[in-house]
Amino acid sequence: MATKQKSPQTNTGMASAKQSATSEQKENTSNQNNNSSLLEKFFIDQLKDIYYAEQQLTKALVEMKEATSTEELEDAFDTHAKQTERHVKRLEKVFQSLEKEPEGKKCEAIEGLIREAKTIINETQSGTMTRDAALIIAAQKIEHYEIATYGGLLQLALTMEREKAADLLEKTLREEEETDLLLTDVAESFINIEAEEEKKYSWNQTA
Ligand SMILES: [Fe+2]
Ligand SMILES: [Fe+2]
Repeated sequence: MATKQKSPQTNTGMASAKQSATSEQKENTSNQNNNSSLLEKFFIDQLKDIYYAEQQLTKALVEMKEATSTEELEDAFDTHAKQTERHVKRLEKVFQSLEKEPEGKKCEAIEGLIREAKTIINETQSGTMTRDAALIIAAQKIEHYEIATYGGLLQLALTMEREKAADLLEKTLREEEETDLLLTDVAESFINIEAEEEKKYSWNQTA
């Protein structure tokens, strides 16, 4: 899924498809203008969603970092918490490039994903590998939400020929993808194997 969204060939393909569609629809100029302004409204709406999400994540990642059992995961969350602060600033530049004030809109999806991460912290014992294995999965669910959002926004920015916005969105998209891969590496290096050895002793019985 991530590969499709980030492929430069896909971007080029979409851009040329748009050019040929445009030339075929010259007679419908007024219709087209209406469509592009509706698309821009949707684009801004989605920017507000991810702006809110990134702001929530700056706090959530610090909590997740403090709950880790290993230095490896602590470092990964620490690095990404700092990157996430830059993602917020970068989104402000995207708003500026569109001559809009930065504004957040409540994102139910990210609230749910952050709640899941907090549940994991409550249900696992501190200092166990089971906690880190579970936190990695929670963090990767968050990364995939961000990758889907930035991937979609990048495509829309390219389609609307908003080059500055597209450049900024692509930078963040790459960082989210790198984080996702790094988390897989951390999980596979030793955390999952050691978590498996802990069996049931590290998971609190809740029922
Ligand atoms: Fe982010
Ligand atoms: Fe992220």
